[in-house]
Amino acid sequence: MARYHFRDIKGESDEIKNAISIAKSYASSDSTILIQGETGTGKELFAQSIHNSSSRKSGPFVAINCASLSSNLLESELFGYVEGAFTGAIKGGKIGLFELAHKGTIFLDEIGEIPIEIQAQLLRVLQEKEIRKVGSVVKTPVDVRVITATNRNLIDEMKSKSFREDLYYRIGVLNLTVPPLRERGGDVMLLGRFFFDKYLGSDKTKFLSMFEHIMKRVNSYKWYGNIRELQNFVERISVLMKYHGNGYDFEQLVSSFISKDYSISNNEDSIEEDQVCITTSVKGNDLNKWEAEKITSALKNNDLSIQKAADALGISRTTLWRKMKQYNIKL
Ligand SMILES: Nc1ncnc2c1ncn2[C@@H]1O[C@H](COP(=O)(O)OP(=O)(O)O)[C@@H](O)[C@H]1O
Ligand SMILES: [Mg+2]
Repeated sequence: MARYHFRDIKGESDEIKNAISIAKSYASSDSTILIQGETGTGKELFAQSIHNSSSRKSGPFVAINCASLSSNLLESELFGYVEGAFTGAIKGGKIGLFELAHKGTIFLDEIGEIPIEIQAQLLRVLQEKEIRKVGSVVKTPVDVRVITATNRNLIDEMKSKSFREDLYYRIGVLNLTVPPLRERGGDVMLLGRFFFDKYLGSDKTKFLSMFEHIMKRVNSYKWYGNIRELQNFVERISVLMKYHGNGYDFEQLVSSFISKDYSISNNEDSIEEDQVCITTSVKGNDLNKWEAEKITSALKNNDLSIQKAADALGISRTTLWRKMKQYNIKL
């Protein structure tokens, strides 16, 4: 289900208004769209808004995060499978997301993570507008608009051969770049107030001056996590204000928040320890433990990207998946 409309994309900056106006023009066409932008900038918000103002708005909006599934699972999710296609297949088979999105829009999030084996199949579906279920010989026509999103630089991915050039041109017929929050000027304050309103409701008048003061203090913060980070920050201070009132030591909170920015901005690629969430439970010998540790640190050092970690370890993506499963390493 697509909940968002263009009116939900808050902001007055030229940067966001420009992106919205481009997106609106794309809504009136039926071509594939590639949405690029850092994490938390609102790519999914844009995808849903485009669907909701397109001629397909009464049709389904189906979203999938391509980074969340292994190659085999992704294939059967996207295209479905017939009964008996593989061991463990459900009786009667399964309908894929492309078919579920018939007459509507499919949103392929984190398209940069899609395994190379599936890229060829996706390309074929886009060209022929028909899908073939896993284990089937027949093709089914589908009428689906495809919107994809990525926070990666796909040109780099193409150069390193982890993304097919032909697929890149096929998905990127229309291009939309959602700007980072730090380039949207006054929108930080506007969005901050919007979320503050949302979290505090009628309580907000009591804390408004405190809130404005805090927002001024974080004025030059870079917001590498963009709107999502701002939203979480405002939620946190709203909860604290509600429960502790003005007596809480917000000065302390703000200064540690700002100082966090220092380490990130010095090294844009580094990722905060507490943002990295990997769980693992390794059974077995020291060699297993050593291997699991290597994998975990490769993932941490590569923004949790399976592809990049596999490259760094010098193994294939599939091997990395298998090993992550073996050691129960979850992102
Ligand atoms: N301009 C905006 N106005 C209001 N909320 C926004 C805006 N941009 C993003 N958000 C909110 O920020 C969060 C992250 O947006 P999302 O679309 O998931 O980002 P992305 O897919 O780029 O990581 C969501 O909760 C979304 O509703
Ligand atoms: Mg997203």
